[in-house]
Order: sequence, then structure tokens, then C-alpha cells
Amino acid sequence: MQPADFQIVELGDPRLRALAKPVTEAQMGYALDVAEAMAYWMNERGGVGIAAPQIGVPLQMMIIASRPNPRYPDAPAMAPLLMLNPQPQSFSETNATLWEGCLSVPGLRGRVTRPDGVTVQFSDRDGQSRLMELSGFPARIFLHEYDHLIGKTFVDRVDSVQDLVTDKVYFAQIARVTPPPAP
Ligand code: NI
Repeated sequence: MQPADFQIVELGDPRLRALAKPVTEAQMGYALDVAEAMAYWMNERGGVGIAAPQIGVPLQMMIIASRPNPRYPDAPAMAPLLMLNPQPQSFSETNATLWEGCLSVPGLRGRVTRPDGVTVQFSDRDGQSRLMELSGFPARIFLHEYDHLIGKTFVDRVDSVQDLVTDKVYFAQIARVTPPPAP
């Protein structure tokens, strides 16, 4: 199985609306192949996170990989983290309002309010159960990717449809940085 056997699934495809299923122990080998393809497409397209349904695989898997890149110039750097069967356990009481983009929603950004911290239980690539507290941008990535596991996208979460803008307007007028080349 190669990364090119998968493609990024875009908004309107029913696979983005399905509920992802837990990864079973018997599926671990397959899941690690899927994770490799997820990482490939995330890096290829300049993402800072990706969920398995975004490459058409209905499993509860995500990668969080905050790092500065042309699509997210201000993202803090962290080691990529694969989460299997992630479950949010608790949320911070404080919210943050941030602009989000999505590899499955090319060309658009939306302003979304979410909790700015979350505690997550998940299995790592060795199948070990872990509990992790995320805050700031990594928490935002988690909550965005978790939505993909329950059939949601950021478009469902924008505070108002007035808060949807094109990438071109976002980079020129909001982020005020040179837009990255189109993928
Ligand atoms: Ni997304």
C-alpha cells in the first residue's frame, strides 16, 4: 500500500460526513500504513494535522503536527504525534477564536471559536494508552481533527458564515503574508 493509493477527500464527499470507527488491535498493521499515507498527504499539502477520513479511511486516527509552513507561518513547532482512538476527556473553560483552514476545504478559511485547552486519551503507535493535555494551537488542531472523526468540518463550526473567507483574502488582508503557491 502506497500513499498514492489514497487521495485527499474534499467537502461534499459523503466520506467526510461518516462517523469513524475505532481502530481494533487486529487492524494495527493496516492503521500504521494508513498513518504513513496520512503523513505523506499532510506534508505534501502543507497541513499541520490530518484525520484518516480525509484520505477516505473511516477509522479514528489523526496526526497533529504543528510547524511553521507557508499555509501556517506562525504555527509553533512540535514533533508529529499519531493518535489512535482519541477521546477528549475535558475541555478548558476558556475559549479562543482562531482562523482555520482544512485540506478537505481547499481555498477557504473560517473563524472558529473553540476551547483553548483539551485533555485527550488516545493509543499511540505502539498501542499504549496515553493521556495528554494540549493547549493553544495543538489543542486547536486536535479539536479540528476530532471533528473529522465525527463527520464535521470547520465549515460547520464557523461563528457566522460572514467568517468564511478565501485563502487569497485571508493571506492578503488578514494574515498579511505572501500567500503560498497553490498546491
Ligand atoms: Ni480539516
